Amino acid sequence: MVSGLNVLLGITGGIAAYKTTFLVRLLIKAGANVKVILTESASSFVSPLTLATLSKNPVLSSFINEDNESVDWNNHVELGLWADIMLIAPATANTLSKMANGSCDNLLLAAYLSAKCPVFFAPAMDLDMYQHPSSRASFEKLQSFGNLMIPATSGELASGLHGEGRMAEPEDILHFIKQHLGKNLPLSGKRVMITAGPTFEAIDPVRFIGNHSTGLMGYELAKQSARLGASVILISGPSALKLEHDSIDLVNVVSADEMYEAAHRSYFISDIVICAAAVADYRPEKVAEQKIKKTDDDLVIKLVKNKDILLSLGQQKKDQFLVGFALETENELKNAKGKLKKKNLDAIVLNSLNDSGAGFGKPTNKITFIDKNSNIKAFKLKSKAAVAADIISEIISRINA
Ligand code: CTP
Repeated sequence: MVSGLNVLLGITGGIAAYKTTFLVRLLIKAGANVKVILTESASSFVSPLTLATLSKNPVLSSFINEDNESVDWNNHVELGLWADIMLIAPATANTLSKMANGSCDNLLLAAYLSAKCPVFFAPAMDLDMYQHPSSRASFEKLQSFGNLMIPATSGELASGLHGEGRMAEPEDILHFIKQHLGKNLPLSGKRVMITAGPTFEAIDPVRFIGNHSTGLMGYELAKQSARLGASVILISGPSALKLEHDSIDLVNVVSADEMYEAAHRSYFISDIVICAAAVADYRPEKVAEQKIKKTDDDLVIKLVKNKDILLSLGQQKKDQFLVGFALETENELKNAKGKLKKKNLDAIVLNSLNDSGAGFGKPTNKITFIDKNSNIKAFKLKSKAAVAADIISEIISRINA
């Protein structure tokens, strides 16, 4: 949700400014792009060099960049337009009052007046200042403009007094922002379950039957779902891909049987289910307890059929929107439509091995999306991230129809 978000962070002069170093780190770690505007008094509390290093951007303080040989000014209008959100933290009584009354005597205030994006402010001040009717009036006026207040918390204040006025902790500020952003996203409140990657079927303690699936398609689907506000359960067979996301619960499995169990555990709490895994259709009937020795000239391993996870989910379907994948080499449309019907799906994503650039182990994919009403939409060759965006948007348009 925060990944790729442009955050314009305004820091004003209060002791809580030191905490913004942690805030910037959290935002950067979550994948945001951060630009910092520091008021003159804030630079007494926190070093521009620290913030520039952490945010990976120069810290802006005044309208003119005096360091540069050429005349260079910090364009507040561009900054306001660049920002997806503006966050003022800590927000002092002085700055809040100026914001509420349209004052514009520094870069931060000019950028605030230029910003068209959601503006969050996290007040920080001493107990009596926070209670003062003048501060309360600023809070109310700013909220009446649509700005979002991240309330101060209670605790020991820099003055030694106890009470309300401490700036919210950086983790809580990030949480507040995420919650707000999530509210307006198309998949907020929805749970998406995705199967991804190959399955490995053990032959003996050191060998297995597997396939070349990397899991990339499923992982991109998980990321796109999370980006659009869903909470995601990603059930993944063995994959080298790394994924860390607050809204994605990664469940690692190895065999088709384990994937079957994990998928059925989460199925009934899911709204959208996408089976993108390349599940092994067969497994060795017996797993040798010891490593198999090469004694004979040939070795016969009897395989038995694995349970079809998607088929079973289709048979037990209630309100879930269920999507499968089909990788075909001939009679693609006919076979994909047949699988959609047989497995009781709402839609199926067809990859044809006849398309170069599509399928296993490739960074790109070329798909055709087919729904249960036989609406067919063919897409061009794209990166798997872009394909994931297409698939999720096709699903959203159908669950909202
Ligand atoms: N699938 C599954 N469990 C299995 C096999 C497949 O969940 N044991 C799912 C895949 O994740 C995919 C879909 O079923 O979404 C289609 O798989 P595919 O292998 O193309 O089709 P099959 O039904 O196995 O038919 P065939 O191999 O004969 O083409």
